Amino acid sequence: MKKIYLAPLEGITDNTYRTTFKEFYGGCEKEFTPFLSPNSTKKFTTREFREIDSEINDVNTTVPQLLTNNAECFLWAAEKIAELGYHEINFNLGCPSGTVVAKKKGSGLLFYPELLDQLLYDVFANLPVCADGQPVNISIKTRLGKNDPDEFEEVLEIFNKYPISELTVHPRIQTDFYKEPVREEYFSYGLSHTDIPLVFNGEIKSVSDMERVENQYPDINAMMLGRGLITNPELAFQYKESREPSAPDLERLKAFHNELLAQYTTLFSGDKPVLHRMKELWVFWRELFPNNEKAIKQIQKSKHLAEYKIAIQSIL
Ligand SMILES: Cc1cc2nc3c(=O)[nH]c(=O)nc-3n(C[C@H](O)[C@H](O)[C@H](O)COP(=O)(O)O)c2cc1C
Repeated sequence: MKKIYLAPLEGITDNTYRTTFKEFYGGCEKEFTPFLSPNSTKKFTTREFREIDSEINDVNTTVPQLLTNNAECFLWAAEKIAELGYHEINFNLGCPSGTVVAKKKGSGLLFYPELLDQLLYDVFANLPVCADGQPVNISIKTRLGKNDPDEFEEVLEIFNKYPISELTVHPRIQTDFYKEPVREEYFSYGLSHTDIPLVFNGEIKSVSDMERVENQYPDINAMMLGRGLITNPELAFQYKESREPSAPDLERLKAFHNELLAQYTTLFSGDKPVLHRMKELWVFWRELFPNNEKAIKQIQKSKHLAEYKIAIQSIL
């Protein structure tokens, strides 16, 4: 049985989602925050601080993620995060967004091996220590490369020079975004060319997918699930309990939905940001309701919470 990690999804797996998910479902050993972007202001925004505030996040299972190409900014944020009691910080080398990549960040940095190498050198030479006196663990979440999967060979050689605690590989290149088929042969290449503990990420959507990945790659450390787990939040515990795969329990999904709605309503002022969050979730949950197209459309069209709540009633 492999460990399961909840992937970071900007706009979805924020502190509210992660803590509510743990309360209603769980089954994951780690939950990753969506990326934080430390910059020269050396300040976290209020929104960013919510993701790492140790008063409202579990420092033992939450892994804050950083997106930057600047060692000084990385180290500033890493020190603050270690002071808060976290043991691991994840470095984002996977984000495929055009604006991020244009700034040589996320998967864009993979195209500049010298810059990447220098950054990792500076980071590992100056690692902050955690409250227990141990250096904080640095893990990485990466794609194979920017334009060509063969870039992975050089990228992996660079990673191999550093004591990276865990390497999550999403076996796609930047230009694949989230759509093209995953390039699993490159994940196998990674397994035989590094001693860094590997985590598989990409298109795991069912318990049988999880069993397939576990059997195919018995040496991996964990599997990281994103969209599959958002769609069916029971996946991790169904796998852990070796349950027969089944659709998620509707009553539990309803309670989970209602709690998220209540939390976002308290957190944000006005209907708009609450609706925005909830509609993002329905982009995934709609798959669970193939015969409710009309209601899903109503959800996506709703402009006020009152309208949204009416649309929800016919589904949940
Ligand atoms: C809407 C969205 C937001 C994402 N945000 C992040 C992020 O903040 N950090 C990150 O490392 N990956 C991010 N990802 C990538 C996911 O963590 C994951 O690697 C990807 O969805 C593939 O895994 P999956 O097939 O299990 O979903 C995002 C993906 C999506 C679809």
